[in-house]
Amino acid sequence: AKPPIRVAVTGAAGNIGYALLFRIASGAMLGPDQPVILQLLEIPVEGPQKALKGVAMELEDCAFPLLQDMVLTGDPNEAFRDANWCLLVGSKPRGPGMERADLLKDNGKIFIAQGKAIDEVAADDARIAVVGNPCNTNCMIAASQAKRLTADRFTAMVRLDENRGRAQLAKKAGVSINDVSELFIYGNHSPTMFADFTHAKIGGKSAAEVIGDQAWLENEYLPTVGKRGAAIIDARGQSSAASAANALIDHVRDLVTPGAVHSVAVNSEGRYGFADGVWAGMPVRTTTPGSYEVVTSYEMDDFAKSKIKITNDELVGERDTIKDMLA
Ligand code: NAI
Repeated sequence: AKPPIRVAVTGAAGNIGYALLFRIASGAMLGPDQPVILQLLEIPVEGPQKALKGVAMELEDCAFPLLQDMVLTGDPNEAFRDANWCLLVGSKPRGPGMERADLLKDNGKIFIAQGKAIDEVAADDARIAVVGNPCNTNCMIAASQAKRLTADRFTAMVRLDENRGRAQLAKKAGVSINDVSELFIYGNHSPTMFADFTHAKIGGKSAAEVIGDQAWLENEYLPTVGKRGAAIIDARGQSSAASAANALIDHVRDLVTPGAVHSVAVNSEGRYGFADGVWAGMPVRTTTPGSYEVVTSYEMDDFAKSKIKITNDELVGERDTIKDMLA
């Protein structure tokens, strides 16, 4: 049998956690023959710790053959110890009347502490995926704390946006989701993101040509994808936890599947016109399990460049707000 992979999950008793943990334990993320150990972190407060125990009881009751062990804790050093994957889902939500700058700073503190702990105690091959918002900037902050682990180990999730973007193109064109390819998300996980329909394909042909409605693509498609999270909160009264958990499963599974190409927010290193050192969504191709190279071959036209500029400006603004927190 394969040795187990240790997966640390923060915010494990939250909504995304509840939709995520069962799928990790079932093998959907790392494969049907890969045993896992779940190391679950919640804030060290009675309510969340008690809720976490309840989730663990349910995991036990699923009798998952792949779930070898569970650690429940309020201590980041225990949660991240020897972890091979660190899924940073927990973060502080924006409260009523709270300024965005305060949200960035409050979360910055969490991701400084978690970045440090991961760098100190996680496995040598540790990979980190940040979901807790503002995820791009939280990821940049966590990565800045690392001395042992290199920046490429730290990724933030824009996969939900990619999945939303593919679904909307398939629906408009009346085709199956499998007919949509090369739809990648550039920039921030926020309404400024650019879902690059200019290079997307439907049935191997240019999506823009197949759809034949540039005005729809620019004025309806992009805002629909960008504001989908708000539309779901409006409809459901709660945020999009199940689709976010599903996207995280996709994010990690594709990062361990050589040849997979998908949208991941990574250190831009100045690619595609992004400021060097911000974490921006772009297409990456998995080389060996856990490692990837950025796909740099897409040529952007003036429209695409103008969209990338908007989302880059937002990322640079977020970085300016928390610049004192970067190690
Ligand atoms: P939630 O509020 O239901 O759960 C979050 C959990 O994290 C809570 O149980 C809380 O106690 C815990 N938590 C807070 N601070 C923590 C810390 N320092 N250490 C450990 N645990 C901590 O929220 P939900 O719906 O599960 O969403 C989680 C995050 O994911 C939010 O920030 C949300 O904005 C973000 N999100 C990101 C998406 C993306 O595409 N990147 C999509 C959807 C949500």
